[in-house]
Amino acid sequence: MVTAYDATFARMMDQAQVDAMLVGDSLGMVIQGQGSTLPVTLEEIIYHARAVVRGTRRAHIIGDMPFLSYQTSLDAALQAAGRLVKEGGVESVKLEGGREIAETIYRMVRMGIPVVGHVGLMPQRVHAMGGFKVQGRNGDDADSILEDAIAVSQAGAFMVVVEGVPAELGARITRSIDVPTIGIGAGVECDGQVLVSYDLLGLTDTLKPKFVKRYDELFARGVEATKAYVSEVRSGAFPAPEHTFGLQKAGAASATTSTGANAPSAPAAAAEADASIPVTEAHAYGPTH
Ligand code: KIV
Repeated sequence: MVTAYDATFARMMDQAQVDAMLVGDSLGMVIQGQGSTLPVTLEEIIYHARAVVRGTRRAHIIGDMPFLSYQTSLDAALQAAGRLVKEGGVESVKLEGGREIAETIYRMVRMGIPVVGHVGLMPQRVHAMGGFKVQGRNGDDADSILEDAIAVSQAGAFMVVVEGVPAELGARITRSIDVPTIGIGAGVECDGQVLVSYDLLGLTDTLKPKFVKRYDELFARGVEATKAYVSEVRSGAFPAPEHTFGLQKAGAASATTSTGANAPSAPAAAAEADASIPVTEAHAYGPTH
């Protein structure tokens, strides 16, 4: 599983055969440049979810429920989850929390909305945790996180994200609940893994948390590619003739066929092809969700 926030990334990740994409509230940090996920709104998740849905053919799409969209009342939570499915087009929703949100999860599932749980390090509680810190390092904390995972799975969550806990606890939770665990900084024994797509591609030039493996360095490569563009524009090497449109040549007008229908002559067809700006694949792609 990876995070995705727009149609192009969704197409890339979908073609790479990921099983699931999360329209995460991490977009507050990687897309909006905020210091936490707290400012992200339901409208913003819906906006990004619609783009991800348009770029996806096969992966399951999960919408993150942002801070304050599900904590204040059951009614508000059900409304917000319903909007994410109805307006955002996601197939399930994810909520951070444990025993205290078990009833909310139960009611969402009963109204037909599949739910993903999220326990351990919960970024929406960054201030209560005193920062983005590994959770469950001592016995009582670990037991409490395990209780939370059991509660959300018994409430009907079909999958549980386990974030920022010792590998032993990730393994214990995985053995103790009946639904798949998806780890992020929770060790190799979780049933699956999730990474923020910008982290795995090396698109973030700031923090590199211990649990992240960068499979490329696209930020650095983007800087180099853009430098090359800037230099070619300044020197006049770009645009080259192959990037440049010409005038229509004399004699390239349409000819009439033997059936009387108008068909372009060969030179006219070539000139037309040269001048047509293709619709990107993304426009022609279309969602199947
Ligand atoms: O918002 C997010 O990206 C997440 C994942 C890191 C699990 O919640």
